[in-house]
Amino acid sequence: MSQNIPPPIPSLVPETAPFSEEQRTWLNGFFAGLISLDSSGVTALTGDQAAALLGGAPGGASAKDDDGGAPWHDQTLPITERMSLASGKPLRWKMMAAMAQQDCGQCGYDCKNYSGAIVSGAEQRLNLCVPGGKETARMVKALAEELKTAPKPAAPVAAPPAAAAVPSAAPGSSRDNPSTVKILSRTLLNKPGSEKQSWHVEFDLTSSGIEYNVGDAFGLFPANDPALADAVIKALGAPADFPIGNRTLREVLIDGVSLSPAPDMLFQLFSYITGGDRRQKARALSTGDDPDGDAATLDVLAAIEKFPGIHPDPEAFIEALDPLQPRLYSISSSPKPDPNRVSLTVDTVRYKIGSRERLGVCSTLLADRIEPGATLRGYVQKAHAFGLPTDPKVPIVMIGPGTGIAPFRAFLHERQAVKAPGRNWLFFGHQRSDYDFFYEDELKAMRSSGHLSRLTLAWSRDGDTKIYVQDRMRDSGRDLWEWIAEGAHIYVCGDAKRMAKDVELALVDIVAQHGARTPEEASAFVSELKKKGRYQQDVY
Ligand SMILES: Cc1cc2nc3c(=O)[nH]c(=O)nc-3n(C[C@H](O)[C@H](O)[C@H](O)COP(=O)(O)OP(=O)(O)OC[C@H]3O[C@@H](n4cnc5c(N)ncnc54)[C@H](O)[C@@H]3O)c2cc1C
Ligand SMILES: NC(=O)c1ccc[n+]([C@@H]2O[C@H](COP(=O)([O-])OP(=O)(O)OC[C@H]3O[C@@H](n4cnc5c(N)ncnc54)[C@H](OP(=O)(O)O)[C@@H]3O)[C@@H](O)[C@H]2O)c1
Repeated sequence: MSQNIPPPIPSLVPETAPFSEEQRTWLNGFFAGLISLDSSGVTALTGDQAAALLGGAPGGASAKDDDGGAPWHDQTLPITERMSLASGKPLRWKMMAAMAQQDCGQCGYDCKNYSGAIVSGAEQRLNLCVPGGKETARMVKALAEELKTAPKPAAPVAAPPAAAAVPSAAPGSSRDNPSTVKILSRTLLNKPGSEKQSWHVEFDLTSSGIEYNVGDAFGLFPANDPALADAVIKALGAPADFPIGNRTLREVLIDGVSLSPAPDMLFQLFSYITGGDRRQKARALSTGDDPDGDAATLDVLAAIEKFPGIHPDPEAFIEALDPLQPRLYSISSSPKPDPNRVSLTVDTVRYKIGSRERLGVCSTLLADRIEPGATLRGYVQKAHAFGLPTDPKVPIVMIGPGTGIAPFRAFLHERQAVKAPGRNWLFFGHQRSDYDFFYEDELKAMRSSGHLSRLTLAWSRDGDTKIYVQDRMRDSGRDLWEWIAEGAHIYVCGDAKRMAKDVELALVDIVAQHGARTPEEASAFVSELKKKGRYQQDVY
């Protein structure tokens, strides 16, 4: 029994080293983590060594982050650029630069704290960055290898991770402590004729212990389509009831592992059990090469089909796959009218590669494979730096095309419930006004009542020219500038890769034009808005 009790963290940082009790505790854990990563056996560190690891000057400087402003912390930059911005920096920051920089919380941390937890040894799982995909997974793995061999004391690292990195034990309050929630209803938000299928999904939180605030996201643990699991079993030529621990192969394929995309480890496994050209190909795919130009399309089934007749041991096969991760959705309701209900606004992911339709795991589970009354495991991912201003009088501008409207519906409901006097301006956009006007009746009613001071719409496929939210922002640039000058907070939600960047560029232009600033000054002004928490993003 006693072997399950972890040994006490050794006291590696001398009592005389210039750290507070809290810092010393964290440092002891940090160094213990390093030792566990390396068998060379560090026994104790001098105060100077410890200070060097933290980035403080020997002999007394305080433990400070020295990320140089983290220029890589920009989700629109490709990984190559992020790594080059972190080049020459300590491993701690290279590790952070390898993350997708969305601070999306899917891994249970933000980018800084996830990388910090890996470097400290507190987090062993290297493949949790969903938006970073394989590129991030490969880089993190390579950096973790470097970490094992890095000389100690290493180059400066960050100060202790924020308390937010420690998962809460309350039920449903983190991905490590999910609770059970029941689906109450599912309503299609698009009208017949739309190219999209997005759903308003409501959940019952009664007895779940879950509490949330507007701005938070909701995490759901999905399950793969059983038909896809069956197709994988058939392609493997393995029995569906093959035991994997105390479960069957089929059960694990449904709710234990990701079936898309095929991870490097799977190709590595294939390279061990096949020969000749096929071995070369599998080896190339396992290192990120793309010998046939189809690597990006290979989910687990397609990977098996690419090597016909391959029959890996089912247990080794499962071990080579990534765990199935929860998916996050911006909450689109306020708890004020009913704390036992939460709603999400979910776009259904379906696309075709070759002759097979690929199905987004969680979005199609919610759309097609689960009915009201069914239960799922879920949790709240607390927002960091995304929420309503504390002063209800402060005006807000919300920019949320597509499912990006979700948190803004929540904001509007919250402000309505608390009778906040601040003005509300929503920019919403989607493909077509006839089919894709989410929450149309509700928004129009809020507009009529005056709760929504302004509603500005951008339809990208109504005419010959694409009109996007940022075009409408520019059209209303003078008014927007006035709102900003009066202290408005600005919020953006939706696509991280293109929309968020374009909206920010439009904002800089508006500040330059109507705020009489040079482009550089306007850019600095917008950066300052961000720093002050007056420009907040929830992008994915
Ligand atoms: C903080 C946060 C908030 C979010 N809020 C929302 C929200 O409010 N509403 C919402 O709908 N989503 C939201 N998302 C996205 C959501 O978490 C899921 O990523 C999304 O629902 C897809 O998950 P899935 O399991 O259905 O698809 P997956 O099985 O994860 O498949 C999606 C993957 O398929 C691939 N793919 C998708 N389309 C194509 C294509 N056309 N061609 C080739 N490959 C493609 C991409 O690699 C994509 O990552 C949010 C994400 C985050 C991080
Ligand atoms: N991880 C995932 O798999 C997943 C799941 C759901 C959503 N998403 C992503 O999250 C985002 C939201 O998806 P969604 O269904 O809510 O809507 P969406 O696909 O983002 O579309 C919403 C509106 O935004 C427009 N748009 C496209 N490019 C834009 C840009 N650069 N600037 C401003 N507007 C732009 C679209 O126009 P046009 O399309 O006509 O150009 C459409 O009118 C998308 O990027 C989507 O890919 C990802």
